[in-house]
Amino acid sequence: MKQWVVVVNGPNLNLLGKREPEIYGTRTLDDLEKTVTAKAAELGIDVRFYQSNSEGEIIDFLHQHGPGSLGIVINPAALAHYSLALYDCLQALALPVVEVHISNIHAREEFRSKSVTARAARGVITGLGFAGYELALEYLTNQK
Ligand code: DQA
Repeated sequence: MKQWVVVVNGPNLNLLGKREPEIYGTRTLDDLEKTVTAKAAELGIDVRFYQSNSEGEIIDFLHQHGPGSLGIVINPAALAHYSLALYDCLQALALPVVEVHISNIHAREEFRSKSVTARAARGVITGLGFAGYELALEYLTNQK
């Protein structure tokens, strides 16, 4: 079996393309999945791509698909700002995590600047759009 990276997107990211396009762009979640899958193919790995609007479903998916993976790329969306359950989950899995945000969370409302989940991450990429996911995949594939 090929090595894999888990790529998870949180609440409301199913609305990509329609939701505040001036902030999140006009490309859809399907476009994101295609971008991520193409990058994974280039890197010679598999990707397990998931989106949910439910905190519990995201945690269940991570419990199921995290162990054995090269690591986790996660855009927790608003969960980043308050979900201690997701933070605990990422800590418990003890895998390399890269947190990604499409927009620059530090250039927006004050409440977005704080991420409780980022503490469980190796690094955070914020504001680079879909490229953030590709960079995160590269990092997790090539980490020493
Ligand atoms: C987001 C930023 C969050 O503050 C917001 O709640 C999102 C998307 C981003 O990708 O820029 O839903 O994570």
